[in-house]
Amino acid sequence: MAKRNILITGGAGFIGSHVVRLMVNKYPDYRIVNLDKLTYAGNLANLVDIEDKPNYVFEKADICDYEKMCELFDKHEIDGVIHLAAESHVDRSIKDPFTFARTNVMGTLSLLQAAKVKWEGNYYDKLFYHISTDEVYGALQFDGTLFTETTKYDPHSPYSASKASSDHFVRAFHDTYGIPTIVTNCSNNYGPYQFPEKLIPLFINNIRHRRPLPVYGKGENVRDWLYVVDHAHAIDLIFHKGKIAETYNIGGFNEWKNIDLIKVLIKTVDKLLGNPEGASLDLITYVTDRAGHDLRYAIDSRKLKNELGWEPSLQFEEGIEFTVKWYLENQAWMDNITSGEYEKYYESMYKNR
Ligand code: NAD
Ligand code: DAU
Repeated sequence: MAKRNILITGGAGFIGSHVVRLMVNKYPDYRIVNLDKLTYAGNLANLVDIEDKPNYVFEKADICDYEKMCELFDKHEIDGVIHLAAESHVDRSIKDPFTFARTNVMGTLSLLQAAKVKWEGNYYDKLFYHISTDEVYGALQFDGTLFTETTKYDPHSPYSASKASSDHFVRAFHDTYGIPTIVTNCSNNYGPYQFPEKLIPLFINNIRHRRPLPVYGKGENVRDWLYVVDHAHAIDLIFHKGKIAETYNIGGFNEWKNIDLIKVLIKTVDKLLGNPEGASLDLITYVTDRAGHDLRYAIDSRKLKNELGWEPSLQFEEGIEFTVKWYLENQAWMDNITSGEYEKYYESMYKNR
C-alpha cells in the first residue's frame, strides 16, 4: 500500500476521533496528522489509546489560520485531507452565528486555499475530502421521501447554512482549479465520545443524575441515526475508493421520532442502572421548541451501497445499548467534560427554555 500523509481536521472531536483511531490502527504505513484547535468540543482524552502510535501526530491549530495551514502542508507533505473540523451544534449556531461562519466557511476556505497553493496543480493521488451533513438539504415532511445526492440545498439554521456554504466552496475549488474533491453528507451520528450538548449523551447523563430531559416542542421531529463507527468506515472507504467530484449521502435507514428514541434511552439507562422499568419517565419535560427546527431528516444512501458496497453494520438496538453502557462506564470522561464551563453553558441553554 502506498504511503500517505493524511491531514484529519477536527480529529479530537466526536466523529473525528473515531476516524483518527480507525486510520491509525488500520494503516501503520500512513502518517495521520490530527489538526485540531481544541475548542470546547475537542478533547484529546478521546484518543488516549492511540496517542503513542508512531504513525500518529497531533497539531494544535486553527483552520482559519491560513499561514499555519500552509506551514503544516509543507511540514508533513500532506497529500490527503479529511476535513471534519467545524462548529457542529445547531443550538449554539442560533446564539452565535458568527463563530459558525468563521470556522465552517472561512476555515474551510483557508484549508482549500492551502491545498491549492501547496499542491501547485500537481493533483495526482491528492484528495480533499469534505465531511458534511444532511442538514444542508433542509427539512422533509412525514411523506416517506428521502434526501438524495441531488436534493436541492435548503438550509434553515445558521449551522446548516454555514455547512452548505462550505460544501459549495469545496465544489467550486474542484470546478475552478481542478482540486480533487469529494463531499459526503451524513445523518445524525451516535456513539461514544460525543459532547453532552447533543441529544443522546445529554439525556443519558441527565437520566443518570435525575435531571430534567428537555424535549423540544412536542418531540415529534424525526432524525435518521447512524452508529459513529459505521460512519468512520464509510469515510475510510470513500477516501480510498470514492470517485472524484462526487457526492455521497451516508445514513442508517434508521428514522426515529425524538420522543420514541428518548423512551428507548430511558428504558435502557433504567435497566442498566437497575432502576424499575419506567422510573425515569417523569424526567421528560417539554420545553420551547428550537427556532427553525427541521421536522424530519432521512437519508437515501443507496448510491454508496450500489457503487462502493457500504452498509451500516449495527442494528440500532444493539448500538444504543452499547452506547448507553459506554457512557455509564466512562463517567470519569463525562465528569471531566461537564465540570467547569459546561455548567454555565447548560444553565444558559436550558434554564429559561
Ligand atoms: P464535534 O463538535 O464533536 O468536533 C468538532 C472538532 O472540530 C472539535 O474537536 C473542535 O475542537 C474542532 N474545531 C472546531 N473549530 C476548529 C477550528 N477553527 N480549527 C481546528 N479545529 C476546530 O463535531 P462532530 O459531531 O464530530 O462533527 C464532525 C464533522 O462532521 C462536522 O463537520 C459536522 O458538520 C459533520 N457531521 C456531524 C454529524 C453528527 O451527527 N455529529 C453528522 C453529519 C456530519
Ligand atoms: O443531521 C446531522 C446533524 O445531526 C449534524 O450535522 C449536527 O452536527 C449534529 O449536531 C446533529 O444535529 P441535530 O440538531 O439533529 O442534533 P441534536 O442532538 O442537537 O438534536 C437531535 C434532535 O433532538 C433534534 O430534533 C433536536 C432535539 N433535541 C435536542 C437537544 C439537544 C431535544 O429535543 N432536546 C435537546 O436538549
